[in-house]
Amino acid sequence: MTGRTPDPSTAALLDRAAAHSDHHEGPMRFTEEVPGDFWAIECVDVHKTFGRNQVLRGLNVGIPTGMITIVLGPSGTGKSVLIKHLIGLLFPDRGDVLVHGQSVPNMTLTELLEMRKRFGILFQDGALFGSMSVYDNVAFPLRQHTDFSEGEIREIVMGRLGDVGLAGADQRMPSELSGGMRKRAGFARALVLEPEIVMFDEPDSGLDPVRTALLCQLIEEVHAQHGGTYIVITHDIASARRIAEYIAVLWKGSIVQSGGRDQMLESGNPFVQQFLAGAPVGPLGME
Ligand SMILES: Nc1ncnc2c1ncn2[C@@H]1O[C@H](COP(=O)(O)OP(=O)(O)O)[C@@H](O)[C@H]1O
Ligand SMILES: [Mg+2]
Repeated sequence: MTGRTPDPSTAALLDRAAAHSDHHEGPMRFTEEVPGDFWAIECVDVHKTFGRNQVLRGLNVGIPTGMITIVLGPSGTGKSVLIKHLIGLLFPDRGDVLVHGQSVPNMTLTELLEMRKRFGILFQDGALFGSMSVYDNVAFPLRQHTDFSEGEIREIVMGRLGDVGLAGADQRMPSELSGGMRKRAGFARALVLEPEIVMFDEPDSGLDPVRTALLCQLIEEVHAQHGGTYIVITHDIASARRIAEYIAVLWKGSIVQSGGRDQMLESGNPFVQQFLAGAPVGPLGME
């Protein structure tokens, strides 16, 4: 399977965005060249330190609306820390995070809670409640955040379980599921509130290459069906090549380069080249 080519207008915007998104320049902002809603998320000069550990060191990145973006980086580079900044579970020491143009660190608690409802998140292991059936896990956000009837909830839950190929597994307990099925159940749960932005934190972790490929295919299919802005965090280059429309490479707390898939795969940046090729020789050494 090859990556999809964005439609021509998107491709043109990506080209123009590319000129602005090189090392340390950050996402293109406040220009007339891209519409105000082009970026679903913008991180501007984000710094985050824990004790003496400088994790994010002036991170700049834009996540385009409506596309599948892959954020790629080796383990321990701050990918999960970055995700937590996008939903206000962590706040930057310096810099800003904007979701649909609104500054997350400046939100009131009420605004933050509202904003989080626009996100669907698939955590590494699916993060299911062990004492609830798959059905109840997927129904949970609907029972928590809506006043839908049980009939309406049933329709949504069975629809999303069908989307992820778990229609027959609704009464199973999480402990009765394989790792891949748990992730798919987590994916179904992430979708039930019809989120504008769906984030996947290392969806491929713990899966073999075949199941990783199947999960990527599922992500692509569900995105094609429901739309939305998808952010897939991974260290798996094969996944990135397979489903990305936009790629951002994270290394040592900042974005080395970001851009449309084709532009990134043809990048002249030696680090990005080495990383996307998975090559052992290059500027990226063992550290
Ligand atoms: N809440 C926290 N307190 C202190 N250190 C943290 C916290 N969260 C993450 N870190 C540190 O930040 C670094 C990046 O972690 P993380 O974002 O989980 O990496 P990854 O790219 O593998 O997801 C690690 O050194 C980790 O120990
Ligand atoms: Mg992580």
